[in-house]
Amino acid sequence: MTTPNPETNGPVAAPEERVWDGPPPQSPVSPVFDELTRQRTKEIIALYPQSRSALLPLLHLVQSVEGHVSQDGIRYCADALELTTAEVSAVATFYTMYKRTPCGEHLVSVCTNTLCAVLGGDDIYTRLKTKLGVGHEETAGEPGSTGSITLEHAECLAACDLAPVVQVNYEFFDNQTVDTADALVDALQRGEKPHPTRGAALTDFRTVSLELAGVFTDLEHTVEGASSAVETMRGARLATDRGWSAPSMPDSPPAFPSPPEKKS
Ligand code: FES
Repeated sequence: MTTPNPETNGPVAAPEERVWDGPPPQSPVSPVFDELTRQRTKEIIALYPQSRSALLPLLHLVQSVEGHVSQDGIRYCADALELTTAEVSAVATFYTMYKRTPCGEHLVSVCTNTLCAVLGGDDIYTRLKTKLGVGHEETAGEPGSTGSITLEHAECLAACDLAPVVQVNYEFFDNQTVDTADALVDALQRGEKPHPTRGAALTDFRTVSLELAGVFTDLEHTVEGASSAVETMRGARLATDRGWSAPSMPDSPPAFPSPPEKKS
């Protein structure tokens, strides 16, 4: 199918389909991106009609290999997707989920956005900062080693009804206090993996990065656990109890208003 080119009003040719055969031979890609990673790269790219759309999962994939997105990782993605390293860097540095320095076994994110902050998030972050002796996006311990922790303060984690919240490798620990967060970090440093309040069992930052790339080596285990909290469902339960329902959608939605004419 062709779509009109907004600049010329002419048709735009569909992008050519392409199979990636690995980086060009002259490309000095780090050997850490082994055969398995290259195979997974091909599978991820094949999911998208345009290869460049695979950039976000590929960045998670290289992060799962190295524990961060290194310059080699940037080059690997650029080669795989026929992008420039500048284009890949622009994306990797825009999203906070891509870490540019090596991460610990666990990433601990403390929500310090308004609601969590006033309910104790700021105090939790201050305690953990002091306890670990690190600041935002810094790692206590040898990155990647058991019990090493990268700390970060995060913007709203979309769990305000359970504030203040802490995430470990993006899994939720709800309704935290300074003391429970302190104890959680103690457990992580001892090499334990406490079960999150919701969601799957705790793994580590690299494994979660692989899952974010769309690769699930143990899907059943990955999706176990409650996915929602009682507090979050309270509104829906109230509506059900009272027989409330949303108005039905019209069969044909109203047309969008015409854009204003351009002034010459
Ligand atoms: S403010 Fe912390 S989850 Fe929304």
